[in-house]
Amino acid sequence: MSQCADQWRNFVRETSYVHNLKEEKISNDQFWRSYGIYDQVLMHSGYPGEILNKISSFISPEATLLDIGAGTGAFAIPLSRKTAQTIAVDPSAYQLQILSEKARQEGLTNIFTIKKEWKDVDITSVDYSLAAYSLFVEDVENLLAKMIDVTKKGVFIVFRAEGIDSLNEFAYGTRPYADYLCLYHILKDIGYQFEEILFPRNYYLPIDLVFKQYRFSKKSHDELIGHLSREGRLQEREDGKWAAFSAKDALLYLIR
Ligand SMILES: C[S@@+](CC[C@H](N)C(=O)[O-])C[C@H]1O[C@@H](n2cnc3c(N)ncnc32)[C@H](O)[C@@H]1O
Repeated sequence: MSQCADQWRNFVRETSYVHNLKEEKISNDQFWRSYGIYDQVLMHSGYPGEILNKISSFISPEATLLDIGAGTGAFAIPLSRKTAQTIAVDPSAYQLQILSEKARQEGLTNIFTIKKEWKDVDITSVDYSLAAYSLFVEDVENLLAKMIDVTKKGVFIVFRAEGIDSLNEFAYGTRPYADYLCLYHILKDIGYQFEEILFPRNYYLPIDLVFKQYRFSKKSHDELIGHLSREGRLQEREDGKWAAFSAKDALLYLIR
């Protein structure tokens, strides 16, 4: 087992949202229901932004696409304007319900949803596959191998490239960390050399959304505001306080 596989396992267990499921004794679906602001955060943060155009540029029209952990459809919805068929896999009924409602509003009839974890899905072949911020499983090598096995033309993986936000350390203390490089090395260990491109984003979030994001922290709202203020990240607007963030998404891709 490589060092990166260990690093990923520790990250999933101790730091990722999967850790909150255990601590709070809630299911994956309950977690996403309690985080109904997900799409609002995406909208303010400019995600997926340019990375979506880049992935779209690789996808040939009339292709089939598998989106693993499709969530509310940040990629599945826009990419389905191009694909013949999109299969959106996600274990959360709530996330898929939002995705399906968006598809209905846009008149997209080529998206099929599967309410399962990827390991339990039985699919033999697709042209393209994508997993964006959805690889929160300890046994990530098998998940990746299965994804690559069923894909004929191109595999896309999106994960963070930025360091740890100091607000996160302040809110939760120092915890195991993993970024796209960890996935890059795991992919290399299982025999695949992926290409990489990084996409930076700078954005502001209304302070209420920041509090909801950090709802599992033991720090009070005043303490979180104090930290942001000390770092000069607060902006006073007519509708209240907003906080500055910077993120970087990595696209790992393999075109066959
Ligand atoms: C952070 S969201 C990302 C959603 C979307 N890909 C995006 O980029 O906005 C992670 C999603 O992965 C789903 N997920 C978690 N574990 C999964 C698994 N083992 N197989 C498939 N999806 C999973 C969650 O239910 C959630 O909707």
